[in-house]
Amino acid sequence: MELCVALDLPTKEENLALIEKIKDYDVWLKVGLRTYIRDGESFLQAIKQINPDFKIFLDLKLYDIPNTMADAAESIMGLGVDMFNVHASAGRRAMTTVMQRLEKYENRPIVLAVTALTSFSEEEFHAVYESSISQKADQFAKDAMQSGLDGVVCSAFESASIKNITNEDFMTLTPGIRPFGEDAGDQKRVADVNFAKNALVDFIVVGRPIYQAKKPAEVIAKILAQI
Ligand code: C5P
Repeated sequence: MELCVALDLPTKEENLALIEKIKDYDVWLKVGLRTYIRDGESFLQAIKQINPDFKIFLDLKLYDIPNTMADAAESIMGLGVDMFNVHASAGRRAMTTVMQRLEKYENRPIVLAVTALTSFSEEEFHAVYESSISQKADQFAKDAMQSGLDGVVCSAFESASIKNITNEDFMTLTPGIRPFGEDAGDQKRVADVNFAKNALVDFIVVGRPIYQAKKPAEVIAKILAQI
C-alpha cells in the first residue's frame, strides 16, 4: 500500500513548504483542482525540482463528452504526471475513448475512475444515482475495468468488494482516510490505515490529518510505519 498526500493548502507557497518538510519520504503527492487551476504546470515542475522521485497524482476527475475527455487525457500526457482520474459516471464509451487515445504512448500514467465521492452520504448518493453506494461502486468498477482502466477511486469500505468482482491487480485508491481516527471534516465515510490495509487498498489519500498537523513529517512516518 502507498501513501498519497493531498496538497490542498490555500497557497502555492504553503504547499511547497509542506513538500519541503516531507521531501525525504517515499510518498505520492496529489495535486487537485484548486492547486492545479491556480498554480498550473509550473507547480508540477516545482515538485520535481524539490525531489524528482516524487510521483504525482493529478486529481482533476475528468467528466465531459468522450472526445473532450480523450483530448484532455492526451494533454495530461504532456505534463509528465504518474496518475490521473476520470469520472466513471461519464460512461464506458468515454472511458474507452480515453484509453484508446492513450494506447500509442509507451509510458502512460495510471488511469483511475472515480466511483462514489467519499463525501456522499447514502441519502445524498441515492438522490443523484438512485442506487446504494456499494451497488453503484461495484458497477462503476466493472465498467472501468472493461473499459481498460487500471483501477478506481472509492472509499475503503468498497475496496474489498471491488477487488472481489474485478481482480486483485485492479487498483483501489481511497480518500477519506483518517489514519488514527482524526476528525472526519466533510468526509462522510472514513476509515483508518488498518482498515484500508485489510481491504487490500493500493493507495490511501490523506490530506488534512497531514497538512494540518504541527509536524506533518511525523504523521507521515507514523503512517508509513503502519503500512
Ligand atoms: O483532507 P482529506 O484527507 O479529507 O482529503 C481528501 C482528498 O481526497 C481531497 O483532496 C479530496 O478532494 C480528495 N477526494 C475525496 N474523495 C474522492 C476523491 C478525491 O475526498 N472520492
